Amino acid sequence: MPIILVLLSFALCFEFSYSQLDILTKGSSLSVEKTQQDVLVSPNRIFSAGFYSVGFNAYSFAVWFSQNDDQRSSEPTVVWMANRDQPVNGKRSKLSLLKDGNLVLTDAGKSVVWTTETVSSSNLELRLLLQDTGNLVLRHTEGVILWQSFDFPTDTLLPLQPLTRVTKLISSRSQSNHSSGFFQLFFDDDNLLKLLYNGPDVSSVYWPDPWLVSWDAGRFGYNNSRVAMLDTLGNFTSSDDFYGVSYDYGRVMQRRVKLDFDGNIRIYSRENGAEDWMVSWQAKLQACQIHGICGANSTCTYDPSSITGKKCSCLPGYRVKNQTDWTYGCEPIFKLSCNKSESEFMLVSHIEFYGYDFTFLPNYTFDQCKNYCLQFCNCKGFQYSINMGAGYFNCYPKLLFLNGYWSPAFSGNLYLRLPKGTMPSIKESIEESNLVCLPQNRTILLERAYVKNRENGSVKYFLWIASAIGGIEIASIFLVWCFLFRNQQKSGNREGYQLTAIGFRKFSYSELKEATRGFSQEIGRGGGGILYKGVLSDKRVAAIKRLNEVNKGFGESEFLAEVSIIGRLNHMNLIEMWGYCAEGKHRLLVYEYVEHGSLAENLLSNSLDWTQRFNIALGTAKGLAYLHEECLEWILHCDIKPHNILLDYNYQPKVADFGLSKLLNRNDLNNHSLSRIRGTRGYMAPEWLFNSPVTSKVDVYSYGIVVLEIVTGKSPTMGVQTIDEGVEGQKRLVTWVREKKEGGSAVDSWVEQIMDPVLEGNYDVAKMETLAELALQCVEKEKDSRPTMRQVVEMLECHENHY
Ligand SMILES: *[C@@H]1O[C@H](CO)[C@@H](O)[C@H](O)[C@H]1NC(C)=O
Ligand SMILES: *[C@@H]1O[C@H](CO)[C@@H](O)[C@H](O)[C@H]1NC(C)=O
Ligand SMILES: *[C@@H]1O[C@H](CO)[C@@H](O)[C@H](O)[C@H]1NC(C)=O
Ligand SMILES: *[C@@H]1O[C@H](CO)[C@@H](O)[C@H](O)[C@H]1NC(C)=O
Ligand SMILES: *[C@@H]1O[C@H](CO)[C@@H](O)[C@H](O)[C@H]1NC(C)=O
Ligand SMILES: *[C@@H]1O[C@H](CO)[C@@H](O)[C@H](O)[C@H]1NC(C)=O
Ligand SMILES: *[C@@H]1O[C@H](CO)[C@@H](O)[C@H](O)[C@H]1NC(C)=O
Ligand SMILES: *[C@@H]1O[C@H](CO)[C@@H](O)[C@H](O)[C@H]1NC(C)=O
Repeated sequence: MPIILVLLSFALCFEFSYSQLDILTKGSSLSVEKTQQDVLVSPNRIFSAGFYSVGFNAYSFAVWFSQNDDQRSSEPTVVWMANRDQPVNGKRSKLSLLKDGNLVLTDAGKSVVWTTETVSSSNLELRLLLQDTGNLVLRHTEGVILWQSFDFPTDTLLPLQPLTRVTKLISSRSQSNHSSGFFQLFFDDDNLLKLLYNGPDVSSVYWPDPWLVSWDAGRFGYNNSRVAMLDTLGNFTSSDDFYGVSYDYGRVMQRRVKLDFDGNIRIYSRENGAEDWMVSWQAKLQACQIHGICGANSTCTYDPSSITGKKCSCLPGYRVKNQTDWTYGCEPIFKLSCNKSESEFMLVSHIEFYGYDFTFLPNYTFDQCKNYCLQFCNCKGFQYSINMGAGYFNCYPKLLFLNGYWSPAFSGNLYLRLPKGTMPSIKESIEESNLVCLPQNRTILLERAYVKNRENGSVKYFLWIASAIGGIEIASIFLVWCFLFRNQQKSGNREGYQLTAIGFRKFSYSELKEATRGFSQEIGRGGGGILYKGVLSDKRVAAIKRLNEVNKGFGESEFLAEVSIIGRLNHMNLIEMWGYCAEGKHRLLVYEYVEHGSLAENLLSNSLDWTQRFNIALGTAKGLAYLHEECLEWILHCDIKPHNILLDYNYQPKVADFGLSKLLNRNDLNNHSLSRIRGTRGYMAPEWLFNSPVTSKVDVYSYGIVVLEIVTGKSPTMGVQTIDEGVEGQKRLVTWVREKKEGGSAVDSWVEQIMDPVLEGNYDVAKMETLAELALQCVEKEKDSRPTMRQVVEMLECHENHY
């Protein structure tokens, strides 16, 4: 009896083999009506080939990663399809290996929808089998291969499957629709591996960056062997010298390269037996640089809360054609007249449309550019942007609005042509749509980067049999063994390198302990933890924050969901988060390390000149605008102070410590306002004290104080030593600056009186005055009188350009 139990438990632990097939021989076929049994399985059981349902009564013959019982609820990962664009009926359709050696897929017993067009003489044995690599092969017993699926990829490459000069990957139409979509990965005639958007109306290459010549893109155009392949360890290499290395390089894992429906190529990996795939590399970091994803007349915006990392919106005066599919773009709600005097132009800032210019007109004034556009009926507007180096403006009249990209970091302006008199109503409609945008509730979306602890089907089954037989004691020993064995497999996956889309990964505690040499080099405190300097295994220098007051309600998955959203934010003026560690009670965050420390230290050591100060004010504003802009009100910073503004090697500011308010148990975001006070004395907006709602304007207030500090070199809490009418006293920085401004004497301008004395008069008075004025607006008591961070950026940029 115990022997039987042992055998039984083995069989259950290692999955039952279903009555599936190893090979298909001449004269036999696989039927769509037996989708469970008529499946070819690879000898290692990793891959299956059979009929896959792509819709109601619609099937494609496909190869996919086999699934365990406990994964049956989720969709299998398909790697190849024979008939993606022509699914067959759910009745009487079959895949048959004919006597003449041809492999054919017939729809409902009648028409042939797909065939390998192979021939073999009738006396030779021929078989169709699925190899361990996932390659579906039609071959003679002596090994001659007549046909193989690796020669006809759809949207996926498996390890060691070459992409050649005659093959290409074509994306799926959408996440659920497997038919051919608009994106292609292929070798161009110049021997370079490229990504192409091939839409219904237009085509354009978007990777490598189209404005780079191949050499600058790091590509080599003289190797005409044209082959690209993913190796088993995770290096995707191409004969034009391009390569992408997955973050978990070197480990034995299941891997695949896929051209996804959103136009990006990604390497996915997972442990054998694990359910969830991790993105371990991707070609384009910025989803919005992929052409065609938002369709005509619309702009793409970075949106970390969306699964694709972007969001589309129509230009003012345009409306979306198809809500469910943005690739259709937007259409105008107005009709333009050809009459010059019946058009006007509306300014849309921070926007860029790639390509489809009439012409390029350097050194044009605004009026020249406008008049040029007006000459042509089909000129839809123009891009007008400054050429910093030359000190003049360039004019780009537009035929079409394609590949639009909006980002607060862009300085380019678009002037949109509209019929005269329609502007006020269009402006109004924008305001309305903005309102719709704000209360947006966020969804936590991640590339399924954590493993759920599922109840184990086989274990349950085993327990049932075991107790039925009565060998409870023996059973429980094996139950424990079985369970341990399983769990070990799963935890291998948890331990390792888990990533989201942008190379953000999970670190193990021991790894970080080693990186920081046992947390020996402390470089800062505050923001809920202690900061240590460390060197990661790939030699990158990192700042590692050990959180000491993590929200108690946060399990590992909530923690991960939260930090991964922060990890997706990507702006030159925000500190970059590389990863996290959540193990047991340990919670750590891994950031990039910046050379020059915090703004606080630099102000204290008097090491900043006026241009650096101006740039720090501008850069900080850009970083904050980015945080506030994308409807992400929940990423208020709430603790802006010179200690949280870090300076890189070039004295460019990087805002640190954002997005942590939910992680740290400081406040409760559930009741729409931050009920508990967060912030640092001296930088906190008045609304914290009165129970008024806290909005992004609290950050504007704190920013204003920081700018006053940058200008005057004086700290807001220490106050200002004053000698008024012989009485020495302390004044708050804001009050002191306001008084100086109001009582400005004729001799010295007020700015000169408040300026940091260490600058010794070496500064641009006009610019510093702008800064000081702006700072005073930011610290207005009434939050509605303060500008938004975006307006701050605009004001400063406008000043920056006028030398
Ligand atoms: C998939 O997309 C194609 C092309 O847009 C369309 O013709 C087809 O009906 C779609 N299939 C499903 C199941 O939605
Ligand atoms: C990946 O392949 C490229 C090209 O062969 C090579 O230069 C690079 O070192 C490889 N990377 C790794 C981590 O093996
Ligand atoms: C061209 O690429 C192939 C495949 O990557 C490589 O084996 C070969 O050495 C390359 N030839 C030259 C001249 O670089
Ligand atoms: C929008 O696109 C979807 C998917 O292609 C399609 O099923 C639907 O009919 C379209 N709707 C309209 C209004 O065109
Ligand atoms: C985009 O807008 C232009 C007018 O500015 C219009 O002619 C064109 O048809 C629109 N594109 C689409 C896809 O609707
Ligand atoms: C253009 O429009 C203006 C004002 O609407 C009108 O006075 C003028 O006659 C029009 N010109 C032509 C050529 O139609
Ligand atoms: C730009 O145009 C103006 C007036 O046409 C001219 O005076 C100036 O020299 C031009 N600048 C450059 C850099 O060509
Ligand atoms: C998010 O919005 C949906 C519908 O728009 C709503 O049903 C859901 O309760 C909201 N979730 C939260 C957390 O507010």
